[in-house]
Amino acid sequence: MEQISSLNIPVRGTPMTLDAAMALAINEAYKGGPRVSPNPLVGCVVLDAKGGFVSAGHHEFYGGPHAEVNAVKNLSAEDLKGAHVIVTLEPCAHEGKTPSCAKMLAKLPIKRVTFGLIDPNPLVAGQGAEILRQAGIEADLYQAESLKYDQEMRIKLEEVCEAFLWNFRQKKVFVALKMASSLDGQVALKSGESQWITGSESREYVHYLRACYDGLLVGKGTIEFDNPSLNIRHPQIEKKNKVVVIDGEGELIGKYTELKLSEVHDTQNVFWCVAVDLKEEVQKKVSKLSKAPQLVFVKTKVGGNLDLEDLLAQLYKTGFRSILVEGGALTASSFVESSLVNRIYMFQAPIIMGSGGSKSWTETIRIDEMKNKIFIQHPTYKTFGNDFMITGRIQ
Ligand SMILES: NC(=O)c1ccc[n+]([C@@H]2O[C@H](COP(=O)([O-])OP(=O)(O)OC[C@H]3O[C@@H](n4cnc5c(N)ncnc54)[C@H](OP(=O)(O)O)[C@@H]3O)[C@@H](O)[C@H]2O)c1
Repeated sequence: MEQISSLNIPVRGTPMTLDAAMALAINEAYKGGPRVSPNPLVGCVVLDAKGGFVSAGHHEFYGGPHAEVNAVKNLSAEDLKGAHVIVTLEPCAHEGKTPSCAKMLAKLPIKRVTFGLIDPNPLVAGQGAEILRQAGIEADLYQAESLKYDQEMRIKLEEVCEAFLWNFRQKKVFVALKMASSLDGQVALKSGESQWITGSESREYVHYLRACYDGLLVGKGTIEFDNPSLNIRHPQIEKKNKVVVIDGEGELIGKYTELKLSEVHDTQNVFWCVAVDLKEEVQKKVSKLSKAPQLVFVKTKVGGNLDLEDLLAQLYKTGFRSILVEGGALTASSFVESSLVNRIYMFQAPIIMGSGGSKSWTETIRIDEMKNKIFIQHPTYKTFGNDFMITGRIQ
């Protein structure tokens, strides 16, 4: 998830190739990061009849105007005459919370629309393009100049709306995992002390990430050791977030009102996951509290651990479409071990903590043959102060 747009908006009239315009449209799309879920991030660029840059827009917030509307809203008929509209996702054919973008574009004097991805909904895929063609506008799926660049761009186009695509294709919550570790992969001391491993720049980025997902999830150990607020503290973002806690045996729920979490978040935004077998016992505990979080009852696996797949299915039912797992060590390890992580954000600080007295975030994962190692696909790298962050897809 990109926080800072790496490309500047060009001066009006600057000549742009189709590849450059699509790269700019992707860049635009990311600007909606913290506000559009469960909608996709979409960006749009308009070029004039000579191929010069005219305007750019993105889908800014859920329920708000789509990228195409924002890109064309201040343009005159003269600006739009013969224009080329480049958009990361096929213009929508249907009326949802907002009118159809394909129908809106079909009324404009534009010449051509190029879109990066076909609508993932098989019921409407290709229909947006068809509406445009019916109106005499060329409408085509984007293809980059070179085959190699085309492959790179296809990955970027899928990545920009990856949670939306995952939800659509799998009907499951998209799971991102963030961990902060030492150079040797340790995330906390065995005593529980873990603050701080990474620097303030990394931590600010994590607050941005919190805003980009529908909720953040931690295990019971993190609540016990850190008593964290788990809210969003970012200079440019004001947003109330949802928090999910895994407390399989319901040990901590009785102390809910003593936790910082309970002061910082409204009770409807905190989701406490406990074993379904303990439903009555937990409900009894909760009835004694002056305020209580939402309870999520989850199936257990042999051995008593919560079935994380069922946990995600329960969260999907309550409206979660994406989640940021923030640890601690055992929770991160359990999600990776269960093959439930889609994207990883691994921050590494230039420090060594040693495995003797620390916890690693892969403790429960055992790989016996190198051919079974877990690959991070399409990795990208960034630095934050002295730290290094690698992000990529696991599945
Ligand atoms: N460096 C970082 O990025 C980072 C991030 C967060 C936290 N931390 C640190 O990590 C430490 C906490 O890590 P931790 O491993 O001790 O605790 P944790 O992962 O926060 O919580 C572990 C507990 O969560 C429950 N849990 C996790 N997965 C479960 C599953 N599949 N089913 C049922 N319950 C599950 C278990 O509770 P039961 O024991 O009741 O079964 C387990 O003991 C703290 O020191 C914290 O400061 C570091």
